[in-house]
Amino acid sequence: MNTRKSTIAIDGPAGSGKSTVTRKVAEQINYLYLNSGSMYRAVTLLASQREISPNNRTQLTDLVQKQCQIDFADNGKKTLLNGIDVSEELRHPEIEQQVVVIAKIPEVRQEMVKQQRRIAKNSGVIAEGRDVTTVVFPDADLKFYITASIEERARRRFNEFQTKGVACSFEQIENEIRIRDQQDKSRQHSPLKKAEDAIIIDTTQLEINQVIDLILKKIKEDQ
Ligand code: DC
Repeated sequence: MNTRKSTIAIDGPAGSGKSTVTRKVAEQINYLYLNSGSMYRAVTLLASQREISPNNRTQLTDLVQKQCQIDFADNGKKTLLNGIDVSEELRHPEIEQQVVVIAKIPEVRQEMVKQQRRIAKNSGVIAEGRDVTTVVFPDADLKFYITASIEERARRRFNEFQTKGVACSFEQIENEIRIRDQQDKSRQHSPLKKAEDAIIIDTTQLEINQVIDLILKKIKEDQ
């Protein structure tokens, strides 16, 4: 698809499928996939490499402001931390555990927002993450809020775990998603909320390809 270079922002609750959808749409329209979660993970990795505790706000602030440049390569398939591809390391369980704490620090968020805007200046981006439609790109050309019922999101996650052979109960997962929604919506900094001008896509009854087609159609209409 031939699109003019613009900024598209997508957010929504955990387990709504927004990451997969964003990645695939970015591929289709040849835009940079700006995965904001990877940027918070990259900061966490850097802190761990420098042996800075996730609770040391002063040192973390100094680190992100002075020694942390994050970029994407290969249309967003690779995350670069100070020029080095760290895409694999970002998925380590240690990072997974610590990122939650680091992503709450206001100074870290401010710096990431700056860097997200810098990245979007240079190319057409499709950005995904908790605050991209509300805080990072309030003037995005197009905004989507992708959601699904709690039951459906729990079912998807449960199936994923079953495939991977992870032992868990459906009720446990459903409960975790309920709690996560509550935390995401009520947190002090950049809570998850629908932007007023976002197009809401409820994927409860939709297959992933139908969601992608819907978004591509909206992008085309917006050209
Ligand atoms: O989407 P993810 O799991 O890669 O996100 C990693 C962490 O960063 C997760 O704790 C949510 C947080 N995050 C955030 O606070 N704001 C964003 N825009 C994106 C992710």
